[in-house]
Amino acid sequence: MTSGRRILLIIAGGIAAYKSLELIRRLRERGIEVRAIVTTAGAEFVTPLSIASLTGERVFSDLFSLTDEAEIGHIELSRSADLIVVAPATADIMAKMAGGHANDLATTALLATDKPVLIAPAMNVRMWTHAATQRNLDILRQSNVSVVGPNEGDMACGEYGPGRMAEPEEILQAIEALLQAKPEPLLRGRKIIVTAGPTQEPIDPIRYIGNRSSGRQGYALAAAGQARGAECVLISGPTTLSAPLGVRVIKVTTAEEMRQAVERELPADIAIFAAAVADWKVANASSEKIKKTAATKVPSLLLQENPDILASIARHQRRPPLVVGFAAETENVVDNAKAKLARKGADLIIANDVSAKSAVMGGERNRVHVVSAKGVDSWVELSKAEVAVRLMELFAGMLQARRKAAE
Ligand code: C5P
Repeated sequence: MTSGRRILLIIAGGIAAYKSLELIRRLRERGIEVRAIVTTAGAEFVTPLSIASLTGERVFSDLFSLTDEAEIGHIELSRSADLIVVAPATADIMAKMAGGHANDLATTALLATDKPVLIAPAMNVRMWTHAATQRNLDILRQSNVSVVGPNEGDMACGEYGPGRMAEPEEILQAIEALLQAKPEPLLRGRKIIVTAGPTQEPIDPIRYIGNRSSGRQGYALAAAGQARGAECVLISGPTTLSAPLGVRVIKVTTAEEMRQAVERELPADIAIFAAAVADWKVANASSEKIKKTAATKVPSLLLQENPDILASIARHQRRPPLVVGFAAETENVVDNAKAKLARKGADLIIANDVSAKSAVMGGERNRVHVVSAKGVDSWVELSKAEVAVRLMELFAGMLQARRKAAE
């Protein structure tokens, strides 16, 4: 669907520029044409020659000559693209964009465009959290600039935190979402709550009980719902994923915080519980770091059951008309899901095999079984993004059928 579309990629000066080369390769694989502008600082990190080899086009930079400007000016550069992508977007280029500067080819093209713009910020964590950068980000968001990332993680400068550029795959997904003809707004006017990711239950201020959930399926669901016109709220445990376009993300840590956040968001039309909530929390969690001394024995943890968020919302006074749970199982996948449907009071359980051989946990693909009171529908293996789209179509159909039946 995106084949033949054109992107103007602006590569600014950051160490993450090497990931933009991979991005170009992935875009070209999908038949998307890429023209690139590299800033003077950007050319310190990746050479115009590498960019040109991958785009198959000449690269534009500030070293352009007057003849180039006559052949293809900055106006034409931005006019001929369907979308402008700035990756990496440094603190400096974000500041220039927010301030409306136009003192080089990249910023001039950005100021002269009426095309949608997507930025993938990448910088040191302190630069990212600096009030000036956050102010500029607000200004850019208000001007309808879309933002993907940054992610949290180890940084090239040796620090840890938010500031790592989104991975090429994530930028690609954001690009595809912006380029694709908008899907039908099947869920317009609906509010959807999605829980996603793991929870962390503290043992002491440093340690916690967690799990391997990446949050990918839940994030993909929120993105798919939002793209189909719904207002999606994503209540997420700690993950390294970036917020899907337009989705409001509420970050939580523990199961109890997740439950409270879900309750606060009621009423809603659909609630989807894709989070891997810890079944137990530590009843005797310590407010000080538990010390390892020769005198102390191995400490015992006293576990206590966590609230079952899905079950409590399914029996809530303000129960959403459609309550959907997930069942991650390593054996008897379908049978366990059927039992869970009744026990939890959900309308649907989406069951999947998370045994080590399936590589679902943390992976990109998923094979699900849709379990309802009517029976079981086993789907073929799909990407998590595709599973999300098809589920949203299913949910929209179910809500519509109920509305018709009520009429
Ligand atoms: O019982 P089990 O953990 O397998 O149930 C999985 C489903 O229940 C998922 O949809 C999960 O998000 C939800 N759940 C919950 N609160 C819990 C445990 C599970 O919402 N404490």
